[in-house]
Amino acid sequence: MASFASRPRVLIAAAAATLALVAPGAASERVESLLAKMTLEEKVGQLNLVSGNHAVTGPFAPQDVRDAILKGQAGGLFNVYGAEYTHSLQEMAVKETRLGIPLLLGFDVLHGYRTILPIPLGQAASWDMKAIEQGERVSATEAAAAGVNWIFAPMVDVARDPRWGRVAEGGGESAWLGAQIATARVRGLEGSNLANTDSVAACVKHFAGNGATEAGRDYSGLDLSERALREQQLPPFQAAVASRARCVMAAFNAVDGVPGVANDRLLRDILRREWGFDGIVVSDFGAISELPVHGVAEDGFDAARIAFQAGTDMDMESRTYVASLPLLVREGAVPGGELDEAVRRILQLKEDLGLFDDPYARSDPRREATLIGSAEHRTAALSLAEKSLVLLKNDRQTLPFRRDARRVAVIGPLGDAGADTLGPWAAHGDPDSTITLKEGIEAVLGGSAQVSTLAAGAVDGSKPADIAGAAKLAAQSDIVILALGEHATQSGEAASRASLDLPGDQMALARAVLAVGKPTAVVLFNGRPLTVEDLDREAPAILEAWFPGSEGGLAVARTLFGLNEPTGRLPISFPRSVGQIPIYHDHLPTGRPAAPTYKPYTSAYIDLPSTPLYPFGYGLSYTRFEMGEPRLDRLRMGAGETVRVSVDVSNVGDRRGTAQAQLYIRHRVARLSRPVRELRGMGRVELEPGQSAQIVFSLTEQDLAYWQPGGRFAPPEGGPIEVHVGPDSGQTRMAVLDYRPRGPSVAHDPGVRVDTVRPTP
Ligand code: NOJ
Repeated sequence: MASFASRPRVLIAAAAATLALVAPGAASERVESLLAKMTLEEKVGQLNLVSGNHAVTGPFAPQDVRDAILKGQAGGLFNVYGAEYTHSLQEMAVKETRLGIPLLLGFDVLHGYRTILPIPLGQAASWDMKAIEQGERVSATEAAAAGVNWIFAPMVDVARDPRWGRVAEGGGESAWLGAQIATARVRGLEGSNLANTDSVAACVKHFAGNGATEAGRDYSGLDLSERALREQQLPPFQAAVASRARCVMAAFNAVDGVPGVANDRLLRDILRREWGFDGIVVSDFGAISELPVHGVAEDGFDAARIAFQAGTDMDMESRTYVASLPLLVREGAVPGGELDEAVRRILQLKEDLGLFDDPYARSDPRREATLIGSAEHRTAALSLAEKSLVLLKNDRQTLPFRRDARRVAVIGPLGDAGADTLGPWAAHGDPDSTITLKEGIEAVLGGSAQVSTLAAGAVDGSKPADIAGAAKLAAQSDIVILALGEHATQSGEAASRASLDLPGDQMALARAVLAVGKPTAVVLFNGRPLTVEDLDREAPAILEAWFPGSEGGLAVARTLFGLNEPTGRLPISFPRSVGQIPIYHDHLPTGRPAAPTYKPYTSAYIDLPSTPLYPFGYGLSYTRFEMGEPRLDRLRMGAGETVRVSVDVSNVGDRRGTAQAQLYIRHRVARLSRPVRELRGMGRVELEPGQSAQIVFSLTEQDLAYWQPGGRFAPPEGGPIEVHVGPDSGQTRMAVLDYRPRGPSVAHDPGVRVDTVRPTP
């Protein structure tokens, strides 16, 4: 009974793909013959992406999408959905325009279309790539049945600043984990064949650097070294491209002073030349028209030229391409051949989606009626929600609660809140058919229990907490569940927060309820790490639920009452205070670590520990495990060799449970100072009480690669590699591997050294 870590092949693939220039013009005959018939205006029309009126995210004067189609000024639409409506739009494009070219129809389906899955950050907490891929199958199937053929996901920005609301949309702080997730998501969305009626084109975003947004403010400037870009931000994008994501969305933000849509080094040199990307590049919403605001273009005309020449194929709602490109081409400022290339890519995507063969295949009212929100999809949503939950604290085995409790109180503003259970960017999700926590508890306990709810105030404090009422209800109950956290709208796009404390007076509410002294568990609903050190000190049990989606309340209830084991692990560090941000597990070392020998001149705070409240990879189980020291099957790794790393784990508690181990490396000596930990694997095994097993990882040379000063990913020349294994990034034990790619050496053998690394208090 063992599981093996998957490998981050993507890092090395960068080197292999370097300079593999894509041969232009590899399109089908149908595309070529169509292209040959197109006027300049028709070509430019294909590069225009027009929004419907749902979920608009920028300054926007609504336009009539039908008018845009008839004028031949829409290669695609977004924010439009519904089988009948999309059928009518495709029909208009096919029957009422000169060349009858069908439309790309895009939508932000970030965690489900109608059946809403946990937010992506919550999904990442499952560390379960199969489940995530399966979740994207659900999203793709539902969206496609409503006529959508293109989804603006996955969002793969690696995010290390929880003040940024968009951490909710991504896979957390690890580039390695992010790359695995990116692969799973693209596979799930695109399916086995893009032309299938349940497949959609994935659009990986926001290329690039958006996750490094400064001070956690959305759309802000940032400064990113080449190393940080390559090692921290790009790996998930490259993994998505390697999995054939058909679209990349160019980001709002600048990298090295050049905004994403104007960044030819990112779009042409890295994306197309290094990685061999042959899909389409679309701008983020209105991002081309923002170039003058960034101060890198004079006006819209200039912006269109710069963005197009940099490699942005499609203009999302800047309306600059239709206005300017015909003239720019006629004047010779933009080569016609480059225009053809962009159009060819868009038409080829339409061809690959099967749109020329049957533009209506996805817009199928029958499939829409039967597939959307189907029982099978709800079951997948429940399963993924269960896997996303992270047990943060559980003193004296407060959880799981017994199912024979008679009087259960659900106190707090998020206990019965459908929309907040769904979370931000919930596409076409329906709050009314969402199982809230209260409803989940009722379903789990059946009619024998009395479940009383009291919102006791508002999340944001706009309605003061009913502290007396809450304490009274708690006193009358056998067990109490406090449902606290954020509103859905407090995370996501344009939802940066400068404080990460529980909003409003929720902490005061929690204190009053905890003071009653009943068995109490806190359930947190939130789209990002919160600073909950006080809560951690005072509450006996805390379950992180994120925004868990359509079946979220049931998933949480089943977990609170022991029908599901919490197996989630944090994909992002939880700081104690915003003053610690940025805080993440793979930070660089310092010459003056926070160890007693260096005191007081250490890299530390005088008023707070340097460690996070909950480290990356952290999560408890209902049972207890003991984990041994990592063992290596060889002490030296030569060129091309693989080392087997194993760790013994035993279930020393009294319940069946899933033990999980994470593998981290550290280059102890390299030409560059390397991060103190870098994730390279995770494994899990289910164990009965008293049972033991081994979790086995394989570590290859590729796992040792990093961005070398010469400008490529490669393993170091050699040297000691620390191999850390543990239940999370804060509690690992170590063995040392001697990496010698250049043949046998007479130097001393470091042997296996084992010591324990614990978070410093
Ligand atoms: C802006 C967001 O940044 C992007 O992620 C989204 O896909 C577009 N709006 C379209 O809604």
